[in-house]
Amino acid sequence: MKIAILPDETTIAATAADLVSEVFAAHPEAVFGLATGSSPLALYRELIARYQAGEISFAQSTSFNLDEYVSIEADHPQRYRNFISDQFTSHVDFNPAAVHGPDGNAADLEQECARYEAAIERAGGIDVQILGIGSDGHIAFNEPGESFASRTHVGVLTEQTRRDNARFFDGQLDRVPTHCLTQGLGTIMEARRIVLIAQGSGKARAVKELVEGAVSAKWPATILQMHPDAWILIDEAAGAGLELADYYREVWEKTHHA
Ligand code: F6R
Repeated sequence: MKIAILPDETTIAATAADLVSEVFAAHPEAVFGLATGSSPLALYRELIARYQAGEISFAQSTSFNLDEYVSIEADHPQRYRNFISDQFTSHVDFNPAAVHGPDGNAADLEQECARYEAAIERAGGIDVQILGIGSDGHIAFNEPGESFASRTHVGVLTEQTRRDNARFFDGQLDRVPTHCLTQGLGTIMEARRIVLIAQGSGKARAVKELVEGAVSAKWPATILQMHPDAWILIDEAAGAGLELADYYREVWEKTHHA
C-alpha cells in the first residue's frame, strides 16, 4: 500500500484527483468505480473543477457505484444512484446511460446482484475504484465477517454503520435502511487501482487496522494489504493511531512528493 498522511481535505482531494487523472490520461475510456458517503465529496468537487477547466473528460467512461440501500424511497437524496448523480456525474460529461448502480429496489435482489456483477465484467472490470472506510472497517458495505472472496451480494448493515449514517437521515436511526446491496470484497480487489480516503478521528481505529493490523475478516478493509496498487490517503486525525507514521511520511516524501 502507498500511505499518504496529508494536511487537509483539499490536499487529499488534489492527490486523489491526480491518481484518477493519471488513469484517464492513459485510458479515456477507463471504468470508474464510485463511492458515496462524505469522504469522496471534495474529490468529486475537484474532478468537476478539472473537467470545467478542460483537464479531464468522462465522455468515454463507464461508472459503477459500490453499493446501495435496499428499499429506500426512489427519490431519496441518500439513494446512492441519486447521490452520485447529484454530487458528481451530472456535473461532468458522463453519458447518463453509462452511470451504473445496483438497484436496491429490484424485485429479485439476488438476480440484481448477479446482473450487476455481469455488467462490471462486460465493461472490462474497474480501472480505478474510489473507497471510503467505515468506522467498523467496512469497505463498500462489506461488514465484519464478510468473505474476502465475496461478490456483489445482499448485506445487513451493522448497528455501528447505521448509527454512523443516521446523520444523513435527519439523525433518526430507525430511518436508516437495515439492508444493502454491495460489491463484494472479491469484486473490489479486482479493481486495477484503488484510492481510499479517510478523514477524522472517528476513522483512526479502522485506519490503524487497515494499515498495520492483521489481515482479518473482523476488519474487512485489511484485505487491501494484498492489493498491488492501493493508495491510502488520510488526514492527521485519521492517521493518529499509526505506529509507523513517521516512516510512512518519509516514504511518501521520498517517492511521490519529490
Ligand atoms: C459508500 C460506501 C461506504 C462509505 C463508508 C464511509 O458508498 O461504500 O463504505 O465509504 O461508510 O462513509 P463516510 O465517507 O460518509 O464516512
